[in-house]
Amino acid sequence: MERLRVGVLISGRGSNLGALITACANEAYPAEIVLVISSRAEAPGLALAAAKEIPVAIISHNDRRAFATAAEPLLCERRVELVCLAGFMHVLDANFVEAWLDRMVNIHPSLLPSFRGLHAQRQALAAGVRFAGCTVHFVRPELDCGPIIGQAVVPVYPDDDEERLSARILGVEHRLYPLAVRLIAEGRVRVVADRVEFVGVRVPDMIALNPGESFGEPLASLEG
Ligand code: GRF
Repeated sequence: MERLRVGVLISGRGSNLGALITACANEAYPAEIVLVISSRAEAPGLALAAAKEIPVAIISHNDRRAFATAAEPLLCERRVELVCLAGFMHVLDANFVEAWLDRMVNIHPSLLPSFRGLHAQRQALAAGVRFAGCTVHFVRPELDCGPIIGQAVVPVYPDDDEERLSARILGVEHRLYPLAVRLIAEGRVRVVADRVEFVGVRVPDMIALNPGESFGEPLASLEG
């Protein structure tokens, strides 16, 4: 099986990178991580990549154009087919985004289009929403915008603080991101008129992870 070649861009902790690494460790998983680029040399996530002998590069993002100019040849050299932003804390150069259109995805800790930008969980608490979650979407030049591939939902409890809510959301991020990458790698995701359509995926299993009766259960199998 040819596995989809994935490059992951990080800036910090790297727990989503870790979730993707774990998924890729399964031989049956249809993607592999062939490059990790960090915008910060001290990012803890770099150690996760190094432990698995995944090639890493450090490129600072003081300048958008300079980052793109440095990253592009590395992605090309490693024959990266999909770029995953995983806690990459910068707005990318618009030409770079254009070059990777529908081949670059991001995970954001809110149910987009609500609460774009920084401190999404804090924004959710301030708004008093009853449900929060995360979104995996294709990247567009505008921050936290783009066709939505999948969302996962968690409840918000009255005594939640930012830390507790963030941890609850992170738990489903680690399930949703590998699922979204798997669907892309299997060719089951296409963008039509700037919205995602699924090919051969059973609805509603694959579109959202909900706190309903299947919450916490293993993902239902995909149907062709
Ligand atoms: C996650 O909450 C992700 O949704 C957001 O930044 C955080 C990164 O966490 N974009 P980690 O570095 O993957 O642990």
